[in-house]
Amino acid sequence: MKILSVVGARPQFVKLAPIAHECARRGVEHVIAHTGQHYDPLLSDVFFSELEIPAPDVHLGVGSGSHGQQTGAMLAAMDEVLTEHRPDWVLVYGDTNSTLAGAVSAAKLHVPIAHLEAGLRSFNRRMPEEINRVLTDHAADLLLAPTQVAAGHLAGEGLAERTVVVGDVMTDVLLATRAAVGDARPAALAEEGLDDGGFYLATIHRAESTDDPERLRAIVASLAGLDAPVLLLAHPRLVAKAEAAGIDLSVGSLRTRTPLGYRDLVAVADRARGVVTDSGGLQKEAFLLRTPCTTVRTETEWVETVELGWNVLVEPGDALLAAATRPRPADTDATPYGDGDAAARVLDALTAPR
Ligand code: UD1
Repeated sequence: MKILSVVGARPQFVKLAPIAHECARRGVEHVIAHTGQHYDPLLSDVFFSELEIPAPDVHLGVGSGSHGQQTGAMLAAMDEVLTEHRPDWVLVYGDTNSTLAGAVSAAKLHVPIAHLEAGLRSFNRRMPEEINRVLTDHAADLLLAPTQVAAGHLAGEGLAERTVVVGDVMTDVLLATRAAVGDARPAALAEEGLDDGGFYLATIHRAESTDDPERLRAIVASLAGLDAPVLLLAHPRLVAKAEAAGIDLSVGSLRTRTPLGYRDLVAVADRARGVVTDSGGLQKEAFLLRTPCTTVRTETEWVETVELGWNVLVEPGDALLAAATRPRPADTDATPYGDGDAAARVLDALTAPR
């Protein structure tokens, strides 16, 4: 059994970690292909070292570009990788351009495709991620759904027979990381003079948030107006777009820094009064840590976080300020994202007789 994982962007490295470890535990051959979509050490290398992921076997070095340029370059390079390695499964993760390229290349070369995090839907076709995940699901042979809601979406699209609910691998890695971090306090908090429970954690990076200068200005103004310091972990895309639009990321409550590695991110999110974000992963991480989350988007794929009261979707402005400062929601012991054993279920599904 040989599995080839295709990854390229920050959240995929996090999801790769428990899969790589489970493959090693079972003696399953695992080839890692890194497309190079993310190349800054703070968006890539730090995850491999902290989460003890083996170095990629293949690095395509594709880098940034328009969607077509980036996806096309990956697609061209993947053909060669798959022809050389001929895996039993190509495993693609989530919804980035790297996911789509891995899936299309494998489909054309008749290599079986498994899609991890299958079935998530925002129903917003203007999001590049929505296009990527819908196309990937329909190209895949095995749909590894994180939740019952995701499996329901797949069933609605006629894909029930290829679907297995495995839980969410991010739960695996988050629970393990929180246990490993223990009481250690990230240096960033002391450096910024932030007390536990006395600050907000914010990340903003999606095209819908950053690429319209007026919307970005409104989001930044809302964050700057919050009633406690806001640790804003700035993705390079946010920094570039803010600079181009003449938006200052150091005003009011904002304390802007470069992104953190995964261990520090988990520890900071755990100690924050609240999270304000447009990231998919962080909404769920906040829920798992029981830190109230405010999401600057019109819809979410992680509907369970909203239904359970731990996440609120808002527009920038008064709604954002009101949601971020709302009272703490009622506690819950619901586990819609599994118990931390999703990677084992993924490997069970991949190694089951076909
Ligand atoms: C990508 C994913 C998004 C995911 C996010 C996680 C797509 C369509 N989007 O968005 O779903 O949530 O990763 O972070 O695949 N840049 C750097 N250094 C890097 C990488 C990017 O400076 O290492 C800058 C470049 O200016 C680049 C921009 O960020 O043009 C956007 O990068 P890109 O990979 O296209 O998309 P992300 O916004 O990171």
